[in-house]
Amino acid sequence: MADKAWGGRFSEATDKRVERFTESISFDARLAPFDIQGSKAHATMLSEVGLLTEEERKTICSTLDDIGKSIAAGEFEYHIELEDIHMHIERELTNRTGDIGRKLHTGRSRNDQVSTDVKLFIRHAIDHLVDLIEDLQEAFVGRCDRDQDVILPAYTHLQRAQPVMAPHYWLAWCEKLERDRNRLFDARRRTNVSPLGAAAVAGTSLPINRNRTAELLGFDTIATNSLDISSDRDFLIEFVSDLAIISVHLSSWAEEWILWCTTEFNFLSLRDAFTTGSSIMPQKRNPDVLELIRGKSARVIAANQHLLGLTKNLPLAYNRDLQEDKIPVFDAYDTVTACLELAAAIVETAELNRERIEARLEEGFLDATTLMEYLIKKGVPMRTGHETVGTLVSTCEKQKKRLAELSLEEFQQACPQIENDVYDILGVKNAIQAFVSEGSGGPKPVAQQLKAWKERIEARS
Ligand code: ARG
Repeated sequence: MADKAWGGRFSEATDKRVERFTESISFDARLAPFDIQGSKAHATMLSEVGLLTEEERKTICSTLDDIGKSIAAGEFEYHIELEDIHMHIERELTNRTGDIGRKLHTGRSRNDQVSTDVKLFIRHAIDHLVDLIEDLQEAFVGRCDRDQDVILPAYTHLQRAQPVMAPHYWLAWCEKLERDRNRLFDARRRTNVSPLGAAAVAGTSLPINRNRTAELLGFDTIATNSLDISSDRDFLIEFVSDLAIISVHLSSWAEEWILWCTTEFNFLSLRDAFTTGSSIMPQKRNPDVLELIRGKSARVIAANQHLLGLTKNLPLAYNRDLQEDKIPVFDAYDTVTACLELAAAIVETAELNRERIEARLEEGFLDATTLMEYLIKKGVPMRTGHETVGTLVSTCEKQKKRLAELSLEEFQQACPQIENDVYDILGVKNAIQAFVSEGSGGPKPVAQQLKAWKERIEARS
């Protein structure tokens, strides 16, 4: 019983099954560096307000550092009787320093301690994810020059729609990732508020200085209501929601590239290093990494559901249910980290199959909208122009022709406003030049977009 932090009140040892059921050390051990950081700040504050002597502070802080080193070196043993990383570190401190270590938990509870540690972890995780998002954006931007003369069909409903320059595709993903990045910055701001010092649920009678620990830990400010602090997991829900959006983006990108790697599309080839073979079909080269990026998004989406489900029925304030929050958070973070790293490697190394793309570019009437807009410029009402071009496309389909292969007589029969200059805008290479509006996929606006992206990336470094 002496083993337990609550030993004094209990006359019976904890059932082994209860220990196994209630432990969290199997998943919260990775919080160790953050727990040590938080405890050192707490000890420093305690010494400043007279609850520890300077000698005691020094002993506590240097011993915590030593414990951190043992943990990092893998020399630390975990026991489920000690439940979680917080009890392990405090017990080890006491083993090494005796009564001095027994003072560390003054004016603090595991409830505010856990929340502090997890916030420090999330802050670190966000910074790492922002770096990885930037790497992926740079991988997309990095291939824009290489692919600058490639025209790709843009699809709606997965049907050929209009032509765009290939970098327009790459920069589209950059835009989505930029919103993801900004969402993480927003989440970081709301996370970076110190829970430490709320103690268990109602605060403490001891003369602690919450602003000082907040300052020492780099929090922007302190959270103001101890009941709220003890129960708050919004920052985790928000973080994992942001991760869910990232993984949905990665999943749809992966889906698109999986399609592009099929014999049917044949737009893209992945490098051998990023594909796998089949154990029975010798010809196969499978985009397993892309498929797993798509597949793993389900875990991250589920993590988001997990946290909402976990918290939806909890009365104020701390409830032990909250211990379960770390499992989906760590899993979602690890999953998105791995996906972002591999996505960047694939984006850097995949090759567009230029000849194949170009050979089929005139299929699917990618120039039809440009022809309709040509009619509008000749004074034809939009709806009339739409109908006229629809009829012309239908004629072409029957005659197995492209729009550019119709004669001027055929055009003028359909619409007298059409003149010889129509041939200047027909054909995909001509049609794409017509896309000049801001944000469109034509060569000029795409070059502008690319320039802006290069400047943005330059400004980051
Ligand atoms: N292992 C627990 C967790 O991670 C520690 C919190 C314990 N607090 C309590 N009141 N029992 O949430």
